[in-house]
Amino acid sequence: MKFFIDTANLDEIREAASIGILDGVTTNPTLISREKGEPKEIFKAICEIVDGPVSAEAVSLDWEGMVKEGRELAKIHSNIVVKIPMTKDGLKAVKQLAEEGIRTNVTLIFSPIQALLAARAGASFVSPFVGRLDDIATEGMQLVEQIQQIFENYDITTEIIVASIRHTMHVVETALIGADIATIPFKVIEQMMKHPLTDKGIDSFLKDWEQVKNR
Ligand code: G3P
Repeated sequence: MKFFIDTANLDEIREAASIGILDGVTTNPTLISREKGEPKEIFKAICEIVDGPVSAEAVSLDWEGMVKEGRELAKIHSNIVVKIPMTKDGLKAVKQLAEEGIRTNVTLIFSPIQALLAARAGASFVSPFVGRLDDIATEGMQLVEQIQQIFENYDITTEIIVASIRHTMHVVETALIGADIATIPFKVIEQMMKHPLTDKGIDSFLKDWEQVKNR
């Protein structure tokens, strides 16, 4: 399973890259709004840190606008993947961009049939949002299972990015299902490394080592 980070914060991206686990980055307009600077410059800086897919979202609602934005975003760096919302116009834009060799990540996927449509239109990635489904008392990971099953049934090569991850169990479940990618907030990446027994073990080893040092 590949690990992406879900942030536009350069410090967080550098830190995640430094532990050797980072395969890509996803951003969205909300994440960009939390950072300073021009979006284009932020995307460029991210692409210089991470050698993998970097999702940058188009904000037009009409397909011609999305295609225009997509072409501009793709010019920033070869790592850029254009994030397109799951709408009818979005699908038209995905088809056009795919024909031009521009990779897309169809976002805001909340049903398995939306994922199948996006894949058939030519998306390189689909992003089911698990946390937002959990928020409304619907099992988000069940959606991922269904998409995984459908893609397996038809040998679909579109990769599944499990998005809107809120906690470590979402990541564990992503791996158990066998989805391609989990895009994870920095806070959750930090939580993934932690275990109280690890901390306890280090404490007791260091305490015992003090006795060895005093011999
Ligand atoms: O990748 C999509 C993600 O950023 C959405 O997360 O927590 O706003 O639902 P959240």
